[in-house]
Amino acid sequence: MGSNSQNSPALVEVRGLVKTFGVVTALNKVNIQVRQGEVLGLIGENGSGKSTVTSIIAGIQPPTSGEMFFKGRPWRPSSMTDALNSGVGMIVQESGVIAGITIAENIALGELGRFGKFGFLTKGQIIAEAAKALRSIGVDDIDPSLPAFTLDLQDRKIIEIAKVWAKQPEVFVVDETTTAVSQRGRGILYSLMKRQAAAGRSVIFISHDIEEVMNVCSRLTVLRDGNVIRSLEKEEFSLAAIKLLMIGRELQGDYYRSDYGVSRSEDVVLSARHLTGQSLNDLSLDLHRGEILGIGGMSHCGMHPLGKVLFGFLKPDGGEVVTGDGAHIKNVVTAMKHAIGYVSKDRDSEALVLRAPIRDNIVSAGLNKILKAWFFILPKDERAYSEKQVAGFQIKCYSDRQLVGQLSGGNKQKVVFGKWVGADSKIMILDCPTRGIDIGVKQAMYQLMYSLKKEGVSIIMISEELAELIGMSDRLLIMKDGRIAKEFERSETLTEAQIIDYMV
Ligand SMILES: Nc1ncnc2c1ncn2[C@@H]1O[C@H](COP(=O)(O)OP(=O)(O)OP(=O)(O)O)[C@@H](O)[C@H]1O
Ligand SMILES: [Mg+2]
Repeated sequence: MGSNSQNSPALVEVRGLVKTFGVVTALNKVNIQVRQGEVLGLIGENGSGKSTVTSIIAGIQPPTSGEMFFKGRPWRPSSMTDALNSGVGMIVQESGVIAGITIAENIALGELGRFGKFGFLTKGQIIAEAAKALRSIGVDDIDPSLPAFTLDLQDRKIIEIAKVWAKQPEVFVVDETTTAVSQRGRGILYSLMKRQAAAGRSVIFISHDIEEVMNVCSRLTVLRDGNVIRSLEKEEFSLAAIKLLMIGRELQGDYYRSDYGVSRSEDVVLSARHLTGQSLNDLSLDLHRGEILGIGGMSHCGMHPLGKVLFGFLKPDGGEVVTGDGAHIKNVVTAMKHAIGYVSKDRDSEALVLRAPIRDNIVSAGLNKILKAWFFILPKDERAYSEKQVAGFQIKCYSDRQLVGQLSGGNKQKVVFGKWVGADSKIMILDCPTRGIDIGVKQAMYQLMYSLKKEGVSIIMISEELAELIGMSDRLLIMKDGRIAKEFERSETLTEAQIIDYMV
């Protein structure tokens, strides 16, 4: 993409950009140039400043100081809508969709002023505009007249993409979106980015997936602790160099686990029997003590709802979930009483209380909305406990009293993970646990999962990353159309190609 962008003038330039939040310096005199016709990758550890700098460029928040230029002119957008109408659009990392209004109204947000000139805009017109926006990115199976809450995280992202793309922005910012959408969504994004660069416009792309970044980007800029460390031209891309720049040190030891023998007990700790409904189709499985059971498949194969059914969060039409001691898991309260923990793919709406401090989130394992009045057995010393989790996961914050809503995306994910690990869960259901996590902390999470397994904790890991499923699972179930299409035992010779055949 953008092969001849090297000598093109900068479309966007930021100079000496500073952003502070109280005692936190998120950006420390950052200089970044985005050339015409390029896909600029922005990479760096969790909390390094990627979302902050792009959200300032996209008008979501103002800088503390520094200058910005767009097409050579000073750039001071007053809001996200102002920036979008002037040529800079961003797909934000966390949800940018309002759940309580229709899909069409979400797409038309910020447009109402424009329509205002012509007077009253009918509901039908809004829906027609939205359908057009969806079709322009190749989506015709989402009904824009439905409320946005009827969509899952993956499809809500599609709505945001359609909304931004409809404005034909000259600068298209994509912040950690490829791991939130389905495989189809990913395909859509890749093709839009290609179209964008081919038309001489620009993309700023943020992702923790190094291979993806190497494929998609024509240049990379690396951030660390709010500073630009360096930029790499395409010719300079190498896996080793990028890894090193991203986390500032070399990864030591195994990334995944390295043992291949059978290492699970015959004891079954959790069984699903003939689950039907919630996108499942007569699905049964057994989870053994001390087993890491991987579950993979295409995004809509039913694996994400399966995690919620196993945790008692979604109710199936038929079938049952039973623990090893014969207890029926019918709701989240019984799940938690039986020491089952759950990490959701959609951390913002299902797993965290964003307006509460890190410590409260870590010590109160539980789905906040459902369990307001239900307290988990708290560790004796909340503070020591929460500080230990913060240190163990390198959660980037100034204190564990900081509000979770102020953390970077990856650091929020670490809080969710830390909370369930710390709740002494005996069974952990993890849905995309490493989504948005930088490679350094990812490795630490894998090591932790392995040591939990060794202690007899049983783990279900639902994931869209085949490499981590192969790397970590004792057994791997591939789902398709709500059923288990194939089971693989852990093996050194298992490849992604073997698995994909059963997914599609
Ligand atoms: N509203 C806020 N209040 C306080 N601190 C904030 C706020 N927003 C961001 N920060 C801090 O600024 C720093 C940079 O965060 P940012 O979200 O830009 O990181 P990031 O590079 O996007 O990380 P990730 O890969 O995890 O998404 C972090 O330390 C974060 O906690
Ligand atoms: Mg971010």
